[in-house]
Amino acid sequence: MSELFTPYKIGPLELRNRTIRSAAFEGMCEHNSPSQELFDYHTAVARGGIGMTTVAYAAVCRSGLSFERQLWMRPEIVPDLKKLTDAIHAEGAKASIQLGHCGNMSHRRICGCMPYGASRGFNLYSPTFVHKMNLREIDEVVEAFGKAVELAVESGFDAVEIHAGHGYLISQFLSPYTNHRRDEYGGSLDNRMRFMRRCMESVVKAAKGRVAIFVKMNTRDGFKGGMEVEDSIRVAQELQKCGADALVLSGGFVSKSPMYVMRGQFPVRSIVHYMPWSQWWLKAGVLVGGRIVSPTVPFRKLFFMEDALKFREALPDMPLVYVGGVTTRKDADKVIDSGFQMLQMGRAVLEDTDFVNKMKADENHCSECEHSNFCIGRMYTLSMACHKTCKDITPALERNVQKINRQNERMERRLGYR
Ligand SMILES: Cc1cc2nc3c(=O)[nH]c(=O)nc-3n(C[C@H](O)[C@H](O)[C@H](O)COP(=O)(O)O)c2cc1C
Ligand code: SF4
Repeated sequence: MSELFTPYKIGPLELRNRTIRSAAFEGMCEHNSPSQELFDYHTAVARGGIGMTTVAYAAVCRSGLSFERQLWMRPEIVPDLKKLTDAIHAEGAKASIQLGHCGNMSHRRICGCMPYGASRGFNLYSPTFVHKMNLREIDEVVEAFGKAVELAVESGFDAVEIHAGHGYLISQFLSPYTNHRRDEYGGSLDNRMRFMRRCMESVVKAAKGRVAIFVKMNTRDGFKGGMEVEDSIRVAQELQKCGADALVLSGGFVSKSPMYVMRGQFPVRSIVHYMPWSQWWLKAGVLVGGRIVSPTVPFRKLFFMEDALKFREALPDMPLVYVGGVTTRKDADKVIDSGFQMLQMGRAVLEDTDFVNKMKADENHCSECEHSNFCIGRMYTLSMACHKTCKDITPALERNVQKINRQNERMERRLGYR
C-alpha cells in the first residue's frame, strides 16, 4: 500500500498527503506585493490535490530582493497574504512560504542599496559590485528573518521554508566558494555555519511552535570548490539541533551551477526574448555567454536521489523532504518507499496544477513536462508560465522549445537516462 496519500503530522502542521508544491518563483508580485495572479495560481494548485503549496522566494527585507516581481515581507501585505492562505485552506491544502535573502544576487535598482554578501565580489548577472556584510548588516538580516516569520504566522501560513541553499545569502556564508571572511563568520565550517545558526535562532524564537519550520538546503553546491555532501550533512545535523522540523534536500548554486538545481538547458532564448530592450547589453551578454556561464546538466528522473539517500542514512530521525525530478506516480511512491516523509515537485505541478489528483486516480500517471525550462526563462522578467498555456509565446519561441525538447531527448537517451 502506497503511503503517498496518507496524512502526515509535523509540528503544528498536518498534511492531507505527502506532496508539496516546491517553492518555484512565480514572478507574480508586482510592486513586491501579492496579486490576483498569485492568488489564482496557488488556489488552483491547492484544488489540484497537493498536501501543501509553497509561496516562493519572499525576501525577508528589501536588501534581500533579487527580482522586481518578488514578494517582500512587510506588514502592509499581511491582509492580502491572509486572503491567499484562507483560499488555500478552503481547498483542503496547507500553505507554506519560502523566506530568504538573495545576498549578492541583486542590483541596487531592485534592493535599494549596494548589494552585499558574505564577502565582497562582483555579480556577473546584474552586473554589479557587491560588498562584504558588516556586523551591523548581519544583525539586521538575522532580525529580519524573525520578523518575516512573525508576519508569516499573522498571514495564516502553516509552515515557513527558510532558504539556506542555491547560493543565496545563508548558502553564501556556508560555501567556501563565496565565504572568504577572516572573522568569526568565516574559515572553519563551524564558523561558516554561525550566520545560519543565528538566523535559525531568530526564526525558532519568532515561530513559537505556531508554524512548522522547513529548511531548503544544498546536498552539494554542484561544482568543484563548493560544499560537498560530507560537509552538507554536518550542516543538516546542525539544522536539526537548531530546531528545524524538516529539511528539503536540494542542490546547486545560482551564480555558478544554476542548472544543477533543476537540470536541463539554461533557457537562453526565452530569457533574452522577455528581457526589456532597455537592458540590451544584458540581453546581448546572456545570448552570447549564457550557455557558457550556465552549462547544461542533463535531466534524469529523481536526480537528487543518490545524494539524498546519504542524508537519509546520516539523519535517521529527521523528517526529510525529497525534491528533484519527480515526474510520475511511480517516482513519488519510490521516494516515500525510500524513507522520505514528504516530497516536493516543481515543474510537474507547474505544467499541470492537477498533477497530484491525476497521480491519485491513476498509478501509472506521468507528467508531460519535458523540462525545456521555458518557464524559468519567462520568470526572469514576467511571471512563470508553462509554454503550453503561455498566451504570449511567439512561433519562434515555440520552435525553440521543441528544439530543446528534441535535444534533451537525444542527450538523455545517449546517457541511458530514458
Ligand atoms: C520556474 C522555477 C522557479 C524556481 N524558483 C525557485 C525558488 O524561488 N526557490 C527555490 O528554492 N527553488 C526554486 N526552483 C527550484 C524548484 O523548487 C525545484 O527545487 C527544482 O525545480 C527541482 O524540482 P522539479 O524537478 O520537481 O522541478 C524553481 C524552479 C522552477 C522550474
Ligand atoms: S515550460 Fe517546459 S519545463 Fe516548464 S513546466 Fe512547461 S513543459 Fe515543464
